[in-house]
Amino acid sequence: MMKSTLQNDADSPGNLHGLHVAIIMDGNGRWAQSCGLLRAAGHRAGAKAVRRTVEAAPAQGIRLLTLYAFSSDNWQRPEREVSLLMELLREYLLEARDDCVKNSIRVSLIGRRDRLPMDVLGAVAAMEEVTANFKALHVRLAVDYSARDALVQASRLLHCPNGNGREMFSRCLGHAMRAGEPAQDVDLLIRTGGEQRLSDFLLWECAYAELYFTERMWPDFDEKDLQAAVEEFHRRERRFGKVGEKSLATSS
Ligand code: FPP
Repeated sequence: MMKSTLQNDADSPGNLHGLHVAIIMDGNGRWAQSCGLLRAAGHRAGAKAVRRTVEAAPAQGIRLLTLYAFSSDNWQRPEREVSLLMELLREYLLEARDDCVKNSIRVSLIGRRDRLPMDVLGAVAAMEEVTANFKALHVRLAVDYSARDALVQASRLLHCPNGNGREMFSRCLGHAMRAGEPAQDVDLLIRTGGEQRLSDFLLWECAYAELYFTERMWPDFDEKDLQAAVEEFHRRERRFGKVGEKSLATSS
């Protein structure tokens, strides 16, 4: 089986072994439209897909799952939609707590916290505290997250001209995202909804990520879709800038 970057990383939190999968959950609005429903119904169905995906992740060898729940640019959406997304986040944090405890799943947030509503912050704190020591899977919800802002913030924290640049920067970036640990390389980035772009998500961490785009709208995403993406990942040859094993075998 292919090695994930987490397996290579001595600094992995809690000695994690397994894949880091990151998902840009796109298509809630279009899914709703195609069903003749309001966008709100798409987001509600999207929240259910979050629970399905978290439940399915450990069996796929995923040990770190980072979900793009709300980008810093999403504040520009209509106020009612922003409120609904915050409400769904709060509900998820409260309602999924027992399942996370039962299945040893740690949940935490990355991103800015100073602009989040108090009730969401309370639900975040409760979830993070109760699940802090669980190791079966670590789910990170990226909320009020912007990779560019995190990179700018990290560069402000970096005052070490003689240190190991990348390692030190990863630590600063982890701090900038309030992740509590250094930035984690992504193995597989999945984007649903048919678009093919990164949308300011984990720009540093995706340097060598395998990219997987699917037409599936996020509310329809299920265990089989996750499995298909992970299987595709295992079929790929990751070279990290080196010559691949297949080419080496034929080069002499
Ligand atoms: C993209 O759909 C999705 C989002 C902007 C937010 C993701 C939110 C959820 C999955 C629901 C709640 C989250 C949690 C963690 C419980 P879009 O609105 O951009 O869809 P469109 O491109 O079809 O309009």
